[in-house]
Amino acid sequence: MHQLEISDLITAVDPHSGHRLPVRRAEVIRQLRESGDEHAARIVAGLPTDQDGVLDPYAVDRLLVSVHTELQRLNEELRTGERLVHLLGPLFTAIRSATGQPGPYRLVDVGCGLGYLVRWLATTNALGSDVELVGVDLDATLVGEADRLAREEGLDCRFVHGNAFGLPEAATVYVSTGVLHHFRGPALDEFFQAQAASAAHAFCHFDIAATRLAPLGAWIFHRARMRNPLGRHDGVVSARRAHSDETLLRAAEVPGIRALLYEPRGAVNPFCTTLRPVIGVRPHLEAPLRRVLGRDARRMVGPEHLAEATR
Ligand SMILES: C[S@@+](CC[C@H](N)C(=O)[O-])C[C@H]1O[C@@H](n2cnc3c(N)ncnc32)[C@H](O)[C@@H]1O
Repeated sequence: MHQLEISDLITAVDPHSGHRLPVRRAEVIRQLRESGDEHAARIVAGLPTDQDGVLDPYAVDRLLVSVHTELQRLNEELRTGERLVHLLGPLFTAIRSATGQPGPYRLVDVGCGLGYLVRWLATTNALGSDVELVGVDLDATLVGEADRLAREEGLDCRFVHGNAFGLPEAATVYVSTGVLHHFRGPALDEFFQAQAASAAHAFCHFDIAATRLAPLGAWIFHRARMRNPLGRHDGVVSARRAHSDETLLRAAEVPGIRALLYEPRGAVNPFCTTLRPVIGVRPHLEAPLRRVLGRDARRMVGPEHLAEATR
């Protein structure tokens, strides 16, 4: 079972300083071979290095920007922005009414990559002008490119290089797309605990729904829509690594947070590699959120629903 994404292995950053660390190509190839992924090892063998066998950081950056540009096209096609606003709009309405506090509120996109979501929200003003839009990523090149694109388009949003949970200002709502499956085991628990410990009112993280056919669907979709072999490879591996509903709800249900899943697995077409969110709200926000969602609130379930479904 191939479980490693190439893009996770070819860049390394010191988590404290944010500085880029050298990556040896032979070491990446060794890890991929060990995991049984000869195809991925061949992709990496084609990447340029210096005379010491260290991957050329500029070539790696160019490659990752081009893969993320293709990913942006996928997001446009899957209407990720609209899907997010379908939930984030009601979530901010519920926060406005429940807290009674005037804005500005702050949305922080964790691991924003090229910042497609934040730029889309800024272009459409879909959440209202009292919501400040911030994208954060540990990867300096991707977030730098996000910032450049936003300036070029004259958008009212901000991009920050660093750890999303180390920002000086608190987020009202943390969001992400395609990031959850990168956090495994204790790192997934810590991801949710960091948000529960912050002053945030809620979080809403979108990732591929783990269905039996999702990897096949991802293979067809990435084959049709992505040209880059690395992007195609990592797209399929992400679908395989997608967390189950149970794992997400268990990890997100931390003290001070009510965990909810929108469109749990049973409600979706198993062939579609749809993005669906795990939501966490401060407990007093659940009722107002359900009220604003109206009929759609039935599509949102808590951990007790899964317990019933497996009984
Ligand atoms: C697969 S990319 C997702 C990109 C983007 N959200 C999209 O949908 O195109 C995951 C990104 O998360 C970033 N990341 C992971 N943990 C982070 C953290 N704690 N703070 C900021 N960025 C983080 C990584 O640097 C990586 O660029």
